[in-house]
Amino acid sequence: MQCVAVELDTKDAWVRAPTDSEFRRFQILIERETGIHLSESKKALLAGRLNRRLRELGLRDFSAYYRVVAGDNASERVRMIDRVCTNETRFFREPRQFELLRERILPQWVARAARGERGRRLRAWCAACSTGEEPYSLAMALLDALQARLGWDIDILATDLSTSALDCATAGAYPIEKASEIPPPYLKRYMLRGARSREGWMKVGPAVRAVVRFARLNLNDASYPIDASFDLIFCRNTLIYFSTATKRRVIDRLLDLTAPGGYLFLGHAESVTGLSERVRHVGDTVYTRLDSPPALGASFEAARSSGIGVARPGTEQTLRRSGASVAPPEATPLKREVKP
Ligand SMILES: C[S@@+](CC[C@H](N)C(=O)[O-])C[C@H]1O[C@@H](n2cnc3c(N)ncnc32)[C@H](O)[C@@H]1O
Repeated sequence: MQCVAVELDTKDAWVRAPTDSEFRRFQILIERETGIHLSESKKALLAGRLNRRLRELGLRDFSAYYRVVAGDNASERVRMIDRVCTNETRFFREPRQFELLRERILPQWVARAARGERGRRLRAWCAACSTGEEPYSLAMALLDALQARLGWDIDILATDLSTSALDCATAGAYPIEKASEIPPPYLKRYMLRGARSREGWMKVGPAVRAVVRFARLNLNDASYPIDASFDLIFCRNTLIYFSTATKRRVIDRLLDLTAPGGYLFLGHAESVTGLSERVRHVGDTVYTRLDSPPALGASFEAARSSGIGVARPGTEQTLRRSGASVAPPEATPLKREVKP
């Protein structure tokens, strides 16, 4: 499988477009399963994303497909959700947030660690990581800022609902055109260029992969199988797909899992205004909890002492360490001049 955005397939004459009532049934099912609210204007989008699957199954209309996904067929429901999710992402998306991290947040933590006021563990969660560009960008930024100062222990949990996006993320192989999204020094240090049969591809290098682990997690679930708090939570460009009630619920849970003194990063088109009274805006849709000590005091360590844990038994099995559908390139370090 190639890790590219799902193509719309709207010109398919075989499958009848969904009627209004068929669309409404899918709308309710999808919102119940994922939190994603499809407004009436998304009928063509739904048809475009699902037509090919109906054709593959030999089904001519959406009522027949609804009977499949609304019944006991959990694996087909997962496939449907994969197709409905919008996985658009890129490396170092919204670069001002990475600047804020590098120039304001990390220096503060490094200084505090040097004074013995905090430990050198850094726990981050990318809560809708799509095909992996976001957590790998974060890993590069953290390794670059912290690795030179020995003793930092970095762990990034990267989760998403879409299993196909997670397969791409786990493979960590991307078309070489995406090299232009990565700052040249990081490209040279942390990425590998595909050779021979993998010409035209690049792969995330081992230092970065070592600090990122992937798992499937549905932000719409009643509770999350996580028993500790994070210094950094990225949940960017995902809340926009949810209804106001779902946004409020998800933000509340994310804040419960943000350590006092930690930071929540949302997408630039997103905001907590009207959704939560629990945060202070620190810039560029980055937030910290109101109960964070202004100078990041001692409670920070106490809240984080248990580290990151996955509480519910069986969740470990959802960690996606293999199953890569893109074979790893035969690797050589990427050089600066790889930029297209
Ligand atoms: C547009 S992408 C954003 C990716 C990345 N955070 C970024 O900003 O570049 C939205 C992601 O949210 C995921 N998503 C949608 N609903 C979700 C849910 N209920 N739980 C977890 N992930 C979800 C989709 O699968 C998709 O990968």
